[in-house]
Amino acid sequence: MIFSAKTPEELGEAARALVALLDVQPVAAFYGEMGAGKTTLIKQVCRELKVLDPVSSPSFAIINEYRCEDGRPVYHFDLYRMKKPEELFDIGADEYLYGGDICLIEWPEKAEDHIPFERINVNLQLLPDGTREIRINNTTP
Ligand SMILES: Nc1ncnc2c1ncn2[C@@H]1O[C@H](COP(=O)(O)OP(=O)(O)OP(=O)(O)O)[C@@H](O)[C@H]1O
Ligand SMILES: [Mg+2]
Repeated sequence: MIFSAKTPEELGEAARALVALLDVQPVAAFYGEMGAGKTTLIKQVCRELKVLDPVSSPSFAIINEYRCEDGRPVYHFDLYRMKKPEELFDIGADEYLYGGDICLIEWPEKAEDHIPFERINVNLQLLPDGTREIRINNTTP
């Protein structure tokens, strides 16, 4: 699926499509260069999921945990500052990544082999005119 958005407000359709997929495949990896709009899209996804907490990129911790209105957790990863993929194990992230709850991961490249193979891949691209192109692929066999 391909979506495009000229403003964050235009991300609703892509966010709703993602939420529908997350229902069957709870892990999603968000690829895209710095500033491509990963956090912004995750904010919209969390809005659709009715997350009550403020959503922002995990800065000190690698993982932020939010709660949905119905009490379900949502885990937001930002792996950018990770120096080695093994750090994910060290902080016990496996419990979240393979636990069946929703996990939204920025900079998955930092630990490609340590995150579930079965996941949704989201590619964000900033086009020259400022439009964000969003491609969503489900790698579940
Ligand atoms: N669809 C969009 N349309 C217009 N502006 C956007 C869109 N998505 C994000 N932006 C803007 O781009 C800037 C960077 O967005 P964001 O922080 O989401 O990027 P990121 O991919 O998470 O970056 P990083 O790799 O640093 O985490 C923000 O100022 C944001 O408002
Ligand atoms: Mg970000």
